[in-house]
Amino acid sequence: MNEPANGHQSVAIEARGVTKTFGTGDSAVAALKGVNLDVRFGELTMIVGPSGCGKTTFLSVLCGTMKFDGGSVQLFGRDLAAMRDAEVTAFRGKNVGFIFQQFNLIPTWSAVENASVPLLLAGASRQTAEAAAQRLLDEVGIGQKRRSYPTELSGGQQQRVAIARALVHEPRLIICDEPTASLDAASGHHVLELLQKIACRPDRCVIVVTHDSRIFSFADRIAEMEDGQVKAVHGRGEYHAQYV
Ligand SMILES: Nc1ncnc2c1ncn2[C@@H]1O[C@H](COP(=O)(O)OP(=O)(O)O)[C@@H](O)[C@H]1O
Ligand SMILES: [Mg+2]
Repeated sequence: MNEPANGHQSVAIEARGVTKTFGTGDSAVAALKGVNLDVRFGELTMIVGPSGCGKTTFLSVLCGTMKFDGGSVQLFGRDLAAMRDAEVTAFRGKNVGFIFQQFNLIPTWSAVENASVPLLLAGASRQTAEAAAQRLLDEVGIGQKRRSYPTELSGGQQQRVAIARALVHEPRLIICDEPTASLDAASGHHVLELLQKIACRPDRCVIVVTHDSRIFSFADRIAEMEDGQVKAVHGRGEYHAQYV
């Protein structure tokens, strides 16, 4: 059953006062200066803001690929700072799917082989992994391209293979860093429609980092970052693009 789309969804990720500085001394860069954010299940949350404001750093912290200096991150009720590295790695492998601007597909592998990678890494048999990958390729509308290699696919189709790959192990969190930056408007639109559909499950959440104002309208919630902080969070339709 879907929960109501009125802001009462439960919190999947809770970030409080998160700080992160790169380097030391004169060359130190304070990338995150006390970031607060709640990410809710069943929602597509966008993180927007000018280049260099800390979006990618924050995303990396939220999903446990980067350590942070201060504050706290609760990811599905687990305190990331209190977990050992190996625990974080295992937790991330099970719970997080990644979608980037570069599709990062293996050029000598077909669409269905590429989409099966996370399950192969998790130890599934090739048959099981490819069966799941085929279901996801069908779901994102390119099931008929299962035997095609990346070079035989358009940018939009490659991104859909990457989306299938990000979802094949049924992660609860899908993170996307500038997922439409290499795509034309129509393909970008299609990708966001898919992500919106994917997010719309009470056990799931999608975070999209972007400065592509063409896709802002797909967000349930927009966190506006500036200079290492979330300065405002806007509900659907409340945000009007300032960064292009
Ligand atoms: N690995 C790193 N080493 C040093 N500085 C970094 C590193 N990653 C990011 N930064 C700096 O941190 C700030 C935030 O970067 P980033 O999170 O990539 O911003 P955004 O994704 O919003 O463009 C920038 O000033 C950037 O130069
Ligand atoms: Mg970035």
